[in-house]
Amino acid sequence: MYPHIPVLLHEALAYLEPARGGVYLDGTLGMGGHAEAVLRAGADTLIGLDRDPQALRIAGERLAPFVRKDSASASGAQTEETALPAGKQIWLRNSPFSAFEAVLKELAPDGVDGALLDLGVSSLQLDQAERGFSFLRDGPLDMRMSAEGPLAHSTPHAMELIETASFEELRKIIAEYGEEPMAAPIARAILQARNSGIAGTADLARIVAEAYPAKWRATARRHPATRTFQALRMAVNREIQELEAFLSHIAHWLKPGGRLVIISFHSLEDRLVKQAFRDGSATCICPKSLPRCVCNIKPVYRVLTRRPLTPSSEEIAANPRAGSAKLRAAERI
Ligand SMILES: C[S@@+](CC[C@H](N)C(=O)[O-])C[C@H]1O[C@@H](n2cnc3c(N)ncnc32)[C@H](O)[C@@H]1O
Repeated sequence: MYPHIPVLLHEALAYLEPARGGVYLDGTLGMGGHAEAVLRAGADTLIGLDRDPQALRIAGERLAPFVRKDSASASGAQTEETALPAGKQIWLRNSPFSAFEAVLKELAPDGVDGALLDLGVSSLQLDQAERGFSFLRDGPLDMRMSAEGPLAHSTPHAMELIETASFEELRKIIAEYGEEPMAAPIARAILQARNSGIAGTADLARIVAEAYPAKWRATARRHPATRTFQALRMAVNREIQELEAFLSHIAHWLKPGGRLVIISFHSLEDRLVKQAFRDGSATCICPKSLPRCVCNIKPVYRVLTRRPLTPSSEEIAANPRAGSAKLRAAERI
């Protein structure tokens, strides 16, 4: 059993259509749950990216039984007898998905038949106290998805961010990424506390909770630190910037008829995806006052989801993490 349950799995497969075969890019491999399903459903080649080497190791072992004998996968592991459909080509890379073009230039220069992003952190990352993602477990203020390996050094961890940010920078991060109404008092409390040192995630959670008015604290449905932790994690990993970079280039790497599926967990992310699909599917951007079209825009997408898909109440009951998920899909024209 893997600690991460893939979110909106059937819906993602329905739009990706891996039964057609071909090459699929999973930009957020994680535990490989979606990737395994894509391979089982018929994809011939899977290119999986993750910033987290630990995720790549786990996914590598999980996907090894699919590997074709001559395919040089990251894990290299192969098994002789398996009930899984073998003969696949699997390439796993420790890379942010913003850098997907460099990987595809090498491995799939003709483009891909489908691409998937399942954003955010995995349950495995959340559950490990030493990664510092969760206020429920005491750990160091790290929060880097790439806490080890070559990408680790280029990402400042959460403590460095807290120690160097100005009040306004911290307030903005907490307000925008956390959508936190109490961003200003929380930023002030963190800045005050950092002079004497913040011991770790439990200490930060306490500082944030104490910045909340007592009345709010007593009636809140969620821990008062939920939004602040999410905001810091998104800032540390530059999650919005990563998504923007991916969205600005992926259309050109999808083959005609190729499918793009993005599962997001944050309104800012969903808005970016919606906007990218809207821009990519526009047939004319001329001002309405012009008698005829002069922009000659060529749409690159046919949007497949007019509204985002959300998980059923059964899925949320079985996997509460799915609660805020939104799936959007588009087809390359
Ligand atoms: C929600 S999990 C994916 C779970 C996966 N779909 C599964 O079924 O097991 C997200 C994964 O994407 C990775 N990730 C998040 N942002 C990334 C980025 N910008 N580049 C590469 N990997 C990223 C995280 O490290 C994490 O392992």
